[in-house]
Amino acid sequence: MTDLVPVITIDGPSGSGKGAVSARVAEALGWNVLDSGSLYRLTGLAVEKAGIGFEDLKEAARIAENLDVRFEQWMVFLDGEDVTLAIRSETAGNNASKVAAVPEVRAALLDWQRRAARLPGLVADGRDMGTTVFPDALLKVFLDASVEERARRRYKQLKEKGISSNIDRLAVEIRERDGRDRSRTVSPLFPASGALIIDSTGMTIEAVVERILQAARELLPSVD
Ligand code: C5P
Repeated sequence: MTDLVPVITIDGPSGSGKGAVSARVAEALGWNVLDSGSLYRLTGLAVEKAGIGFEDLKEAARIAENLDVRFEQWMVFLDGEDVTLAIRSETAGNNASKVAAVPEVRAALLDWQRRAARLPGLVADGRDMGTTVFPDALLKVFLDASVEERARRRYKQLKEKGISSNIDRLAVEIRERDGRDRSRTVSPLFPASGALIIDSTGMTIEAVVERILQAARELLPSVD
């Protein structure tokens, strides 16, 4: 069944605009969307709540396997508690990238992600959507942008949510997170072979979305 579902993967480093772009591409196509990062963020939060150290890898994997998560429209609940905002903090992002380096955690979340492939189609955003989770995707995109631009975007995003931050500090954290995501041994961040690489520095979200839709139309004539 999954093989019959068209999938567009959008991978890239943190702050490259994947989330916003994926949501708009999915909306334009009327497809489902998978924000795979939220699963790693939820696991990081659950590990923190359980009060175990991030070095206890076995326990982190057990927690990932037994995540009690409910998605309700744009809200997310962990163990029945609303964590919609909590998983969006910078700390949650950094904790996510720590648990994401654990192979057993990645394995536990794999099926969960693949089950999101439902008709009429799926736009999946993350780090390894095109390389590992959906290797047979119809279209694979790798979205990048300079660290400075990504720190600026993150700063603006957080400000809009009423969360105060510091651009220089964000740039340092983005570099650290990139380093961890690109150098881990399991599913490191890199463009899938044949991926359409888009450097979105200086591009509007609309222009990026249009570039992806144009590529999708060329591959799937039924997409308009
Ligand atoms: O995309 P987002 O910033 O929400 O992801 C948070 C962290 O989760 C990333 O820094 C990365 O370490 C991890 N992640 C991952 N694989 C994915 C999605 C996210 O390793 N497919």
